[in-house]
Amino acid sequence: MKDRYGRVIDYLRVSVTDRCNFRCVYCMPPDGIPSVSHDDILRYEELLRLIRIFAELGIKHIRLTGGEPTVRRGLVKLVREIHDMPGIETISMTTNGLLLPTLLDDLKDAGLTSVNISLDTLKEERFDEITRTTGNLPKVLDAIRLAEEEGLNTKVNCVAMRGVNDDELADIAAMAKDRNIGVRFIEYMPIGKHDYEQAIYKDELLDLLRSSLGELAEDPSPRGNGPAVYYKPEGFQGSVGVISAMSHAFCDTCNRVRMTPEGFLKLCLQYDVGVNLRSPVRQDLTDDQIKQLILASLDRKPEHHTFLDYAEKQDIDTRDMSLIGG
Ligand code: GTP
Ligand code: 5AD
Ligand code: SF4
Repeated sequence: MKDRYGRVIDYLRVSVTDRCNFRCVYCMPPDGIPSVSHDDILRYEELLRLIRIFAELGIKHIRLTGGEPTVRRGLVKLVREIHDMPGIETISMTTNGLLLPTLLDDLKDAGLTSVNISLDTLKEERFDEITRTTGNLPKVLDAIRLAEEEGLNTKVNCVAMRGVNDDELADIAAMAKDRNIGVRFIEYMPIGKHDYEQAIYKDELLDLLRSSLGELAEDPSPRGNGPAVYYKPEGFQGSVGVISAMSHAFCDTCNRVRMTPEGFLKLCLQYDVGVNLRSPVRQDLTDDQIKQLILASLDRKPEHHTFLDYAEKQDIDTRDMSLIGG
């Protein structure tokens, strides 16, 4: 599939649930958000039908997100069914890692190729504050180790926050020193209504990292299909990445669309622009009719996001990150 700017769209991010067992400060308000009603969430048969239709339209890479994807029952079966679809080359998942260890063997066996695990600090108290949970840091660290041992392409996602974790970014990066994992630092984005003045941009992030790790040579070997740029500090086995989500430096090569748990095809992370696919699926439209809807909607995919002049724009999505999946 191509959009009107000629960008090839071959990556679909599927948010399988709005629920989460964490309450991260950058993702949702302290009390969480009201759950989407069960009837409004796509059932697995509906989800699989849509993913198959997307695969027929040229989607090769599926990333499962949430909320927290591992809290949705039947995830292993879902991965297996997606794996069996012609055209699908990789299936990956973005997770907080808490429930991952018990599922890892089965997920790998079902065809999962890679996991991105969120980790914003190595300090227990801080971890509790950021995730608004208690005592889960060791479990998430275990999950990262086990995922790598399982042979999955494993990456760590760290949202860089001024005054919160900017004193330990080099320590977090050092997780990639003796292990072949990628540790990525993400610019904090103003999704939902959270405090994003804490964002640290790419150039400053790289300076911070260089001051502890030394020169950073660009590492061209691909670790995923997303916008991260990777570097290899001297003596590192793995690599360190930066996702400059706030600058729209990578929008001109955007390869992705998203589907929310309610079946809304969201064409850009920032905008509420897209098409509802749940009603067509429930109204028994044919596959061809649904394909036409998807292809027609692609014409409305925005050229780029405008996070940096946020207040002035129309059609901004007010959903929290937990309903979008990143
Ligand atoms: P891989 O490269 O395949 O590992 O995928 P990814 O890095 O895109 O996936 P992940 O879910 O780990 O996302 C990492 C961060 O990048 C999250 O904070 C996402 O919100 C952000 N991100 C992913 N896609 C986009 C995008 O299209 N635009 C912007 N601005 N940020 C994105
Ligand atoms: N800005 C940047 N990244 C975010 N994530 C969640 N909320 C934000 C935000 N406001 C990250 C999570 C997770 C991924 C899906 O997106 O840490 O790794
Ligand atoms: Fe849950 Fe991920 Fe949001 Fe944290 S960032 S609350 S783990 S969905």
